[in-house]
Amino acid sequence: MGSVIEAAGLGRGYGEVRALDSLDLSVAEGTVCALLGPNGAGKTTAIRILATLARPDSGSARICGFDVVEQAQQVRQNIGLAGQHAAVDDALTGRDNLFILGQMHHLSRRAARARAAELLEQFGLTEAADRLVKTWSGGMRRRLDLIASLITRPPVLFLDEPTTGLDPRSRDEIHSTVSDLAAAGTTVLLTTQYLEEADRLADDVVIIDAGREIAHGTPRS
Ligand SMILES: Nc1ncnc2c1ncn2[C@@H]1O[C@H](COP(=O)(O)OP(=O)(O)OP(=O)(O)O)[C@@H](O)[C@H]1O
Ligand SMILES: [Mg+2]
Repeated sequence: MGSVIEAAGLGRGYGEVRALDSLDLSVAEGTVCALLGPNGAGKTTAIRILATLARPDSGSARICGFDVVEQAQQVRQNIGLAGQHAAVDDALTGRDNLFILGQMHHLSRRAARARAAELLEQFGLTEAADRLVKTWSGGMRRRLDLIASLITRPPVLFLDEPTTGLDPRSRDEIHSTVSDLAAAGTTVLLTTQYLEEADRLADDVVIIDAGREIAHGTPRS
C-alpha cells in the first residue's frame, strides 16, 4: 500500500476561526510525518479530524483506505491516539491503566494482563508499573500515555505533542520509542512545536500556521 494517511483539502472552522484550512497530507507506510506549528496553528484540529473525533467541513481524508467520515468505525480499528493531554488515570497504577484499557478494547482478562505486562516491559516501565501513576514523573506519564495507544497494535498512530514540556532525556525516550515503532512498520503522524524535533524524527515535515500549510519538506533527503 502507498499512503496510509491521505488528506486532501481538509478544513474545519469554528465560528469565525478557520482552525484548519485546506490541509493536504500523504504519509507512506512505516514513515513518520510531523505537523509542525505554533500554538493555535491547527495541529490538534487536524489530529482530531483524522482520528474521527471531529468532522471536517471541507475536504476529505482516508486512513488505511477508509474515509474518516463515512467509515469512522473502520478508521478507529486501525488507529491509536495519544492526545495532547494525558488520558491515563492518576489514581490507578500504570499496570491497571493498561489492563483496563485492554478490557475496554475487548481483550479477555488474561490477554489484557499479558498485553499490559508486555508493553510495560518493552518500554522500560516494569519497575514503576505497580505504583500509582500520580507518583510517576511527567516523562513516565507521557510514555504511559503513548504506550496506552498501542494496546491494540494499531498500524497508524497519532501523537499530539508527545514531548511538550518534557526534559531532554524524557524527550529522547519518546523519540526512540517513535523511531522503533516506525522501524517496525507503524505509520506515525505527530505534532510538535519544535523544529529540531520534527527534523530529527520525521521523514516528512509539514509546517502549518493559522490553519494553513506554509512549508513542506523532507529533512533527511
Ligand atoms: N472546539 C473549538 N471551538 C472553538 N475554537 C476552536 C476549537 N478547537 C480549536 N479552535 C480554534 O482553532 C484554532 C486551532 O486550534 P488547535 O487546537 O487545532 O491548535 P494547535 O495547533 O493544536 O495549538 P496548540 O499548540 O496550542 O495545541 C485556534 O484558534 C483555536 O482557538
Ligand atoms: Mg494542540
